[in-house]
Amino acid sequence: MCGIVGYTGSKRAVDYLLDGLATLEYRGYDSAGVAVLSPDDHLHIVKCQGRVAALRERCNAANLTGTTGIGHTRWATHGAPSDRNAHPHTDCSGRIAAVHNGIIENFEDLRAQLRLAGHEFKSDTDTEVIPHLFEDAYKGPAQGDMVRALRNTVARLEGSWSIAVTCADRPGELVVTRHGSPLVVASTPEGAYAASDVMPLAAVTSHVLQLDDDDIALLKADGSVTVYDAGGDLVREPKGLDIDWDASAATLGGYSDFMGKEISEQPEAIERLLKDRLGEHGIEMDELNLTNSQLAAIDRIYVVACGTSYHVGLIARKLIEHWAKVSVSVEYASEFNYSDVLVTQNTLCIIITQSGETADTLSAARRLKGMGCRVFAITNVLGSSAAREADGALYIQAGPEIAVASTKAYTAQMVAAALVALRLALANGQMTQAEVEKVFHQLETVPDAIREVLNRSWQDKQVVPIFRDAPSALYLGRGTSSTTAYEGALKMKEIAYVHAEAYPAGEMKHGPIALIQPGYPVVAVVPSDHVHDKTVSNVMESKARGAKVIAVATDGDEQVANLADHVLWVPQMDEYLVPIVAVVHLQVLARYVAKAKGLDVDKPRNLAKSVTVE
Ligand code: G6P
Repeated sequence: MCGIVGYTGSKRAVDYLLDGLATLEYRGYDSAGVAVLSPDDHLHIVKCQGRVAALRERCNAANLTGTTGIGHTRWATHGAPSDRNAHPHTDCSGRIAAVHNGIIENFEDLRAQLRLAGHEFKSDTDTEVIPHLFEDAYKGPAQGDMVRALRNTVARLEGSWSIAVTCADRPGELVVTRHGSPLVVASTPEGAYAASDVMPLAAVTSHVLQLDDDDIALLKADGSVTVYDAGGDLVREPKGLDIDWDASAATLGGYSDFMGKEISEQPEAIERLLKDRLGEHGIEMDELNLTNSQLAAIDRIYVVACGTSYHVGLIARKLIEHWAKVSVSVEYASEFNYSDVLVTQNTLCIIITQSGETADTLSAARRLKGMGCRVFAITNVLGSSAAREADGALYIQAGPEIAVASTKAYTAQMVAAALVALRLALANGQMTQAEVEKVFHQLETVPDAIREVLNRSWQDKQVVPIFRDAPSALYLGRGTSSTTAYEGALKMKEIAYVHAEAYPAGEMKHGPIALIQPGYPVVAVVPSDHVHDKTVSNVMESKARGAKVIAVATDGDEQVANLADHVLWVPQMDEYLVPIVAVVHLQVLARYVAKAKGLDVDKPRNLAKSVTVE
């Protein structure tokens, strides 16, 4: 969580800092701040609780003309969201400022030591030890050398971080480093830039440099970037990455919110992903970096992910087990990291992560890699930690996903999982090429089916009043549709703040049915599949207790039409692919309910899009 930016060059720093922070706001929006070196070499700090828009107003009033600065947007971990705890934080002299993303686990010990040495603290954050440690190092052993001072500083830290530091004594210089948290830098004729991810940089360059953990980069106002590795040696050729994201992809482009835009982008995202994937020999997926015989030998798969990506994992299990007949365990990364793991030399790990930066997912991948497991990533973000650390990575190419609640990445990741399952099934002989091609052609119909669901969004609008005032709702489904219920309920909770409990439909009788009383909303995902009749029975049980049933059903299903109070219709689809389409109704519904309640659908309270702390 938290986003950081830095700039030194010939232009006004605050312009890039504010625009960059606005782009990174999905990483946290509890507070925001900048530190800019004024032309007379004083540090000017502007920070406040709340969003970048509020910071922008304050910065406009402060008229910051300096050309070197750093900025931060915060998701609070240590210390409540407040002006006082907003970054940047400074040393005792007020001439050194630092911003940080991550957690300093030994900050209490460091604080105590620094206090004893006479340092004074102004915030409750773990971060504030950084400028004070830097101060000691800069004035002491590093003798005014920014790179050495940062190296001495991070040598004292435990935890995870990406850090940017500016110092009033060194106008036109910034130092940055990373350890477990993301950071990229760029060298341009107008100056040198840093950011937590490539998005802010897409507006200023098409080429960024990636830092490895513990690299330190010195950014200078002439635009140069010099990278030193953990041992202090010069990195002659830092890893570069061309950004193919058009900066305008991260703008609203006429939509009122990013979630609405991203929901509507789903058909095109899936078309991009499917393009050129069917080749002469089945599914083209060189990204797996596995030969057919290696694929055929896979006897167990761990799918590890968090949040919405975990729900993709649940679908991946169904698809892989159904098509490729390989046993799959799907794990929440945060749980997996502290559980026993059973791997063989033929175990494959698939991590699913839109951002590629979720700390728990990355830890799980590292753990499995350490056990000799091959790790494959399904991710959206080019050059992300997941993509860099995995043995192979499939980019879903959904374009920047800015709204905190994931939508287009969810459906595109399901399609990616389907492609992996088909690739595996052909390699291990569980499906013939003709069978794989048949499913692929069905996948090609998904974008139009989603377009059709989007055309029917009036059906979702009709049921908004049921949820606007409801304190709670039940979401039910069986088989692949239980996952659609989980994801639909998650959307309703996270953006509309309606408590929504998702349950496998058949399990409802073992507890949740007690919640149902007259008028209680029950969302039943009941497409025409092999468990349709069983789910219909559960819908009847809900109805018998007075539930208001909102069903997601397949066109032409008279039985459900007669039973439910409202139906959200989906076109006829193969039952293993219907989750990719049916969920769109539930995304649209949650967004409508949130908007009807006057909520900010893109930035729900307490959440951040990229969870880079455990
Ligand atoms: C956060 C986001 C979710 C996302 C989850 C996992 O909780 O709010 O939308 O699904 O992180 O993120 P990842 O980037 O790993 O898919």
